[in-house]
Amino acid sequence: MMTNPSLISRTRWRGSLLQFDTPQQARILTDQVIEVDAQGIVRAVRAPLPGEQVEHDHRGMLIAPGFVDSHVHFPQLDVIGSPAEGLLPWLENHTFPEEARFADRDHAGEVAQVFLGELLRHGVTTAAVYCTAHPESVDAFMQASDERGLAMIAGKVLQDRHSPQTLRDDTERSLLDSAALIRRWHGRGRLRYAITPRFAPTSTERQLAGAGELARAFPEVTVQSHVAENLDEIAWVGRLFPNDRSYLSVYERFGLIRPHSLWGHCIHLDPDDRALLRDRQAVAAVCPTSNLFLGSGLFNFAAANHPWTLASDIGGGSSLSPFRTMMAAFEVARLGGQYLSPSTLWWHASTGSADALGLGDQLGRIQPGFDADWIVIDPRAKPLLARRWNQAESDDARLFALIVLGDDRNIAATVVKGRVVQPVQP
Ligand code: GUN
Ligand code: ZN
Repeated sequence: MMTNPSLISRTRWRGSLLQFDTPQQARILTDQVIEVDAQGIVRAVRAPLPGEQVEHDHRGMLIAPGFVDSHVHFPQLDVIGSPAEGLLPWLENHTFPEEARFADRDHAGEVAQVFLGELLRHGVTTAAVYCTAHPESVDAFMQASDERGLAMIAGKVLQDRHSPQTLRDDTERSLLDSAALIRRWHGRGRLRYAITPRFAPTSTERQLAGAGELARAFPEVTVQSHVAENLDEIAWVGRLFPNDRSYLSVYERFGLIRPHSLWGHCIHLDPDDRALLRDRQAVAAVCPTSNLFLGSGLFNFAAANHPWTLASDIGGGSSLSPFRTMMAAFEVARLGGQYLSPSTLWWHASTGSADALGLGDQLGRIQPGFDADWIVIDPRAKPLLARRWNQAESDDARLFALIVLGDDRNIAATVVKGRVVQPVQP
């Protein structure tokens, strides 16, 4: 009998599968087989055949789309857990001095490798990443991501004022550097570029205008920044930009708010700001562990009538683990008298985040035609979690057991384009 050659090169994975019927309702399909072709694309999802043996047998485990961290700073890996009395002293005393070290390409390369290893160990397969003001930090991060075949979004931070001399960039140079980095990296492998003004207080009007010009010249790249995180920061923006209606309006004036643009934090928005995000289909990247750690405030999930995603904001955030981020989001919602279901939390950390970043037609779902980026979650890696998992009577209860009790020990494998990248294969 002739064998179809395309089937020979397929790899099969077997286990329970996490899918979303809607953003509010996940479903766990027990005992499914996923077929992946040699290019790392899912070709079929189906029931197992009688007696079928597969290459990757994960029965009893959950295969879920890789998590997507929509706001994270790779150069702040070694800033995690640096206490301060709020955002501005934290930036000045811990973050800016650490980021100054990334002028050194070798240092940036070493941290990029550790950072990517940590992301994958925690089950994060895609992220929107801030580098530093040094173009070398972007080259280091992009190269390390490309070598691993990862779908990453990243950009050079723009900051030409109110910053130490070691971080401050020259306005015109910073825009030329950004354009060169876009040409060098955007679209290479699975990489995408993000135009990344740090936040309004550290950019001159000329730099923000230049960022807007870049955004118009490169409509397919991402735009990301911080907004309305902390009350002292907002008061400062009010003094620096006295004629703008709100902090978000500053970015609007420079043409930066567009579909899939990512706005870190969005704690202190008003209804007009929210309407602007909604009308533009721009995204609030919500960072609950960071907002708790720095005491910035509680995101108002009930008022969010625009796209939003969950993010770690390392190093303001306290964990790269999406389990910790989802848990903190749940607790922040409860403190505000609100409720987020386990399915809702998980959607905004994975499939919904991929959609918000504009990647939802390539990744974030385990379906034919999608990139085979996923994680294998083993509830048995922690005995108490295994017990809760086995007792759970609904899929939401199973997901909640993972959110509350799970951590990186439960990520049995991370798969990128059909290859196991974590644990690292010999
Ligand atoms: N605002 C400006 N820069 C930063 C940063 O690095 N982290 C956080 N959390 N907020 C910022
Ligand atoms: Zn941030």
